[in-house]
Amino acid sequence: MSPRKGKEDCNTKIRRHIDILRDVPAEINPKEGDIEYGAYTIIKLIFLNYYMGTFLTIANKYSYGRKIFIDAFGGSGLVKIKNTGTYVKGSSLCAALANFTRQGKPTFDEVYSFEINPQRYTLLSQRFELLQPKVQPKLYAIPGDVNQEITKINISSNDFVLLFIDPEGLEPDMLNFILFALQSNYVDIIMNISSGVKRVAGISCISPAHLKTLKKFMPNYSQNMTIDDVIDDLFTNYFKKEEEVTVPVNSQGKKEVYKLTLRVRKTTGGSPFVRGMKDLVSCLEGLDGNTIEHILGAPKTIEQWDSM
Ligand SMILES: C[S@@+](CC[C@H](N)C(=O)[O-])C[C@H]1O[C@@H](n2cnc3c(N)ncnc32)[C@H](O)[C@@H]1O
Repeated sequence: MSPRKGKEDCNTKIRRHIDILRDVPAEINPKEGDIEYGAYTIIKLIFLNYYMGTFLTIANKYSYGRKIFIDAFGGSGLVKIKNTGTYVKGSSLCAALANFTRQGKPTFDEVYSFEINPQRYTLLSQRFELLQPKVQPKLYAIPGDVNQEITKINISSNDFVLLFIDPEGLEPDMLNFILFALQSNYVDIIMNISSGVKRVAGISCISPAHLKTLKKFMPNYSQNMTIDDVIDDLFTNYFKKEEEVTVPVNSQGKKEVYKLTLRVRKTTGGSPFVRGMKDLVSCLEGLDGNTIEHILGAPKTIEQWDSM
């Protein structure tokens, strides 16, 4: 990590953000069935949680409608970090609790979280029920396949929406997400783009089944374009989100597992928030699974959590 970036050095900034993610309300306990990922997941969650703060500030100033978070691939609410025993808030709980402890700061009005796995859905909906009495946003956990369910969510052209697309691979049926996002000009998107997409597209002789999957994920897919260009075209010309901030998410040894990309509409006044995100990215791109594991320190078991 570089020693100083702006006001706060990277080390201090990252540790502060990790503490925010680890700050899980007392009524939410780890359970069997919580999803487990490598320490690199923290990079994703810091990026997302940081942008939620920015998004809420902007939406609060400019929106005449609702401030909505859509978690298309929601998970169970908590994430267990491999090799550390640490549990952190997953994306849906980050949204439910965004600015919760910061008096006077804006919160989401509504949080929708989709989850296809029945056990994770049950955990998530129980956790939303526990949190609902004390948080501002209306929390909705929705079971089933987001590819079908997302088209049932109606938003108005005045609503400001942060859409988080966090699949493990090529699960999204992107046309449905495009249709959803075009309901308002103010839908910002953060998406996890797995390195597996490039692997599938790089197979020298693509089978009809692979081609079908790739076309579902990227309706504009063409073998004559690089995957990076296809994805850029998808966001720019289909979602109409020209502005981009991207961070690589690396496991041990700087091996890229996925990219996390933020895409927003270009506005004439420029995008001052982009500077903040770029500063954050300059800290995050110095990290990998190893450095995060080191920061997280010694493991904690479910029993230790229960006794707290
Ligand atoms: C990478 S995890 C999400 C982690 C979560 N965003 C978090 O930060 O805690 C992907 C999740 O999407 C769920 N999933 C996969 N396909 C889905 C689909 N078609 N519809 C809804 N959820 C799906 C998986 O069960 C898994 O829990």
